[in-house]
Formats: sequence, structure tokens, C-alpha cells
Amino acid sequence: MLSLHDLARRFPGPPPRPLFAGVNLELASGEFVAIIGDSGVGKSTLLHCIAGLDRPDAGRVVVDGVDLMTLDDDGATILRRQKLGFVFQAFHILPWLDLAANVALPLGLLGHGAAESRRQATAMLDAVGLGDRAASHPRELSGGELQRVAIARALAHSPKLLLADEPTGNLDPDNASRVLDLLATQVRQRGAACILVTHSRRAAAVADRVLRLTAVGLVPAG
Ligand SMILES: Nc1ncnc2c1ncn2[C@@H]1O[C@H](COP(=O)(O)OP(=O)(O)O)[C@@H](O)[C@H]1O
Ligand SMILES: [Mg+2]
Repeated sequence: MLSLHDLARRFPGPPPRPLFAGVNLELASGEFVAIIGDSGVGKSTLLHCIAGLDRPDAGRVVVDGVDLMTLDDDGATILRRQKLGFVFQAFHILPWLDLAANVALPLGLLGHGAAESRRQATAMLDAVGLGDRAASHPRELSGGELQRVAIARALAHSPKLLLADEPTGNLDPDNASRVLDLLATQVRQRGAACILVTHSRRAAAVADRVLRLTAVGLVPAG
């Protein structure tokens, strides 16, 4: 589903700032990997490279058989919309749209009709325990609930790969653990692969593998 070959990223500076090099990964369909690592080591940058939002300085990213280097910006955008889903630490739920409209966004971007998108979005909200809140507005929700909406949105278009960047970083421990369980359950039910960047020790319990990002690559986390 995803291959990373000798990926490297550095920022030119001044002063020049090498982040990581020699990052290799083979992620199978449906596989769930957690990535941990020190703050500033480049975990978010790595996810951006995988999503085609940032370009590595060396190496290759192959998503579902497509080498991102062969795509222009429009091609990368299309691949991202079709195949990837994202969950962020800060939720990024649009405050002026109700919950169903937020979850329907990726379907709309793929050209699905409004009524069908809303029906599917409501079914997704149901799957994350918010089926009766489709017409609620984000300001009426708690942080844990907002992240459940974000998970529903990230999976609404059945992406092959979900990228989650510290999705529990803004939640208290109880909500963090509930959101993590929900994320893992939903990802597995849909057969999506997942890369979860996290500080949470519970990640080790939900992931198939836990890797640590270091300056010299991904290593098994002990
Ligand atoms: N576009 C950029 N230009 C220069 N430095 C950047 C850029 N993006 C990120 N950085 C720096 O790279 C480092 C790694 O960032 P990040 O990937 O967010 O790390 P992590 O997610 O592991 O905490 C940080 O020090 C950040 O300031
Ligand atoms: Mg980060």
C-alpha cells in the first residue's frame, strides 16, 4: 500500500537543518503502524511527504503503486483526495458547517452529489456514536466529540491509508483512550492502512507495529 525508499528531508536554513535520512517503510494494506519519536525529529514532516504536501530531498514515496515524484501538484491533490484520509491534533473541523456537512466534505471534493454525500456522512457519524448529532454545530461539541467527527470525516470516502498526526494530543486521558480505540476499530473495520503518529503509550496496544523515527531512519521501538 505504501513504500518509502531512503527518504531524506532537510531544511536549507540558515543554519541548515537536517531532519531525517534513510527512512524506509513497507506498509501493507490494512496494516496499522504507530510512529513515535522526539519532538522536532520530523514526524509531521514525514507525514506531509507521504501525503505529497512536502517534497523529500531524496528518496521515493510510492502510494498504492504510484510514485509521487511522477505527479504534479494537481496529480498529488487527486491522489490525496481519493486514497488518503487525515486526522490532526487540532481537529480542523470547520465551525460554520454542521457535523454532517463537515463529514461530507471529502465526498463533495470527489464529486459525489449533495444528498448522497449527506446520507453517507450521517451513516459515518452513526458509526462514531454521533448519529443523532448530524445537524449540530461544532461549537456544541467537546474536544473528544470533535475528534470523533474528524475520524468520521477522514474515513468517509473509504481511503486506503489514514494518516493521523497526534490525534489525541489535545484530549484528556479518558477521551484520548476512547478516541484511540475508536480510530483503531474504524480503521480495521474498513480495511484501511494507518500511520498513527503519537506520544501515547497506548498506541503500542492498538498498533500492529510501533516504530521510532530517528535522524537515521525508522527503527523498531523497544
Ligand atoms: N518548511 C520548513 N522550513 C524549515 N523548517 C521546518 C519546516 N517545516 C518544519 N520545520 C522544522 O523541522 C523540524 C521538525 O518539524 P516536525 O516535522 O513538525 O517535527 P515533529 O512532528 O516530529 O515534532 C522542526 O524543528 C520544524 O521547525
Ligand atoms: Mg508534529
